[in-house]
Amino acid sequence: MSKILVTGGTGYIGSHTVVELQNNGCEVIIVDNLSNSSMDVLEGIASITGKKPAFEKLDCCDRKALAEVFKKYPGIEAIIHFAAYKAVGESVEKPLMYYKNNLVSLLNILELMGEENARNLVFSSSCTVYGQPDVLPVTEDAPVKPANSPYGNTKQIAEEIIRDTIHADRRLKCIALRYFNPVGAHPSAAIGELPNGTPNNLIPFVTQTAIGIRECLRVFGDDYNTPDGSAIRDYIWVVDLAKAHVLAVERLLKNRNRQGVEFFNLGTGKGLSVLEILDAFEKATKVKVNRTIVARREGDVEKVWAEPAFANKELGWKAETSTEDMLKTAWEWEKALEAKRR
Ligand code: NAD
Ligand code: WQD
Repeated sequence: MSKILVTGGTGYIGSHTVVELQNNGCEVIIVDNLSNSSMDVLEGIASITGKKPAFEKLDCCDRKALAEVFKKYPGIEAIIHFAAYKAVGESVEKPLMYYKNNLVSLLNILELMGEENARNLVFSSSCTVYGQPDVLPVTEDAPVKPANSPYGNTKQIAEEIIRDTIHADRRLKCIALRYFNPVGAHPSAAIGELPNGTPNNLIPFVTQTAIGIRECLRVFGDDYNTPDGSAIRDYIWVVDLAKAHVLAVERLLKNRNRQGVEFFNLGTGKGLSVLEILDAFEKATKVKVNRTIVARREGDVEKVWAEPAFANKELGWKAETSTEDMLKTAWEWEKALEAKRR
C-alpha cells in the first residue's frame, strides 16, 4: 500500500483525489492549513470511503512543520502538491501573498523531497500557462504565454522551478498536471467546492443563482469570436480529474527508471461556451438560470480547450463524463449545501 502525502487535501480537487487514492488502496496523509477549506471535509471523505485520512494542520510554508510530517509518517513515497492560493483577481490585489504562498510551499516540498526518501511529485498546474493559444486544441508543447495574473505566473514559475530542480537532482521525478476548468462534485454530494464569498468561477455562480443566493448570472461578453459570441472553455468533472492523479502516482512509482518531469493536459478535448453551459445546466436540472449579458471580464481569454491525447495514451486516462452529468453533480452539491444552511 503506497503512502501518499497530499498537500491541500481538504480543498476542492484535493478532497476528491483523496477519495480516489483511498479507494485504490493508498494510505493518505493530508496536510492543509485550512485557509480555504474545513475539517468537515474529512468526515465527507470518510463517509464515501469508510476511512478518515490522517490529517495534519500546518502551513506548507513552514518548512520545519512539514519536515516533521516525514518523520511522523515514515515511508511516504509520493507527494501530490495541491496547496496554493487560486483566486486570480485577489492575486492582482495581493501579488506578494500569492508568490510567497504558492512558491515558498513548493520550494519546501522540493527541498524535503531531496532530503527524505520521497522522490515523486505530482504538481497541480493549470491551462492558464497557455494564455490564449494560437492553435486549438492546445497541446502540451504549445508555448507558455506571458501570464495574465500573478496567480498564473506562480504556476509558470513553479513549472520552471520544478524543471530546474529535477534537472539538477536526477533522483527526483515529477508529473505536472495542467488542469482545464474543473467543475462539479462527488456524486454522493458529501464533498464539493466551497467557494469563499462571491464565487469567481462560472459553475458555483450558476448553482448559487439557480438556488436563489444570487439574483442573476452575468455572462461576461457576447462579442467574442466564437459561434455564439460567449467565451469557450474545457470543463472537466472533478472526479475524472481526481482519477488522473491516481494514475499519475502509479506512473511515477511503477517506472522507477523514467527520469525528469512530464506535463499532461487534463481536459475533455471539447470546448463549450458560457451560453452552452447555461443551456446544458438548465436541461440537466430543469432549473432556469436568470442571466444578463455584460461586458467582457478583464484578463479573460477568448477560447481554450485541451488536446488530451497525451494523457489518454500515456496515463491511460480519459474524461468520459457528459457535460449534463457533471453539471447535475454541481447542482446536487449546491442543494446539499443549502440543506446544511437551513
Ligand atoms: P482549494 O483552495 O479548494 O484547495 C487548496 C487547499 O490548499 C485548501 O484546502 C487550502 O486551505 C490549502 N492551502 C493553501 N495554501 C496552503 C499552505 N500554504 N499550506 C497548507 N495548505 C494550504 O483549491 P483547488 O481548486 O482544490 O485547487 C487545488 C490546486 O489546483 C491549486 O494548486 C490550484 O492552483 C490548482 N488549480 C485549480 C484549478 C481550479 O479551477 N480549481 C484549476 C487549475 C489549477
Ligand atoms: C469560465 C468562463 C468567464 C463567471 C479560472 C482561472 C484559471 C483556472 C480555472 C486555476 C469564462 C465566464 C465566469 C461569471 C461568466 N484556475 N464567466 N460569468 O476564467 O476560465 O479560469 O479558473 O488555475 O487559471 O483563470 O474560469 O470559471 O472563472 O470562467 O460569464 O460569473 O465563464 O468569463 O469565460 P476561467 P471561470
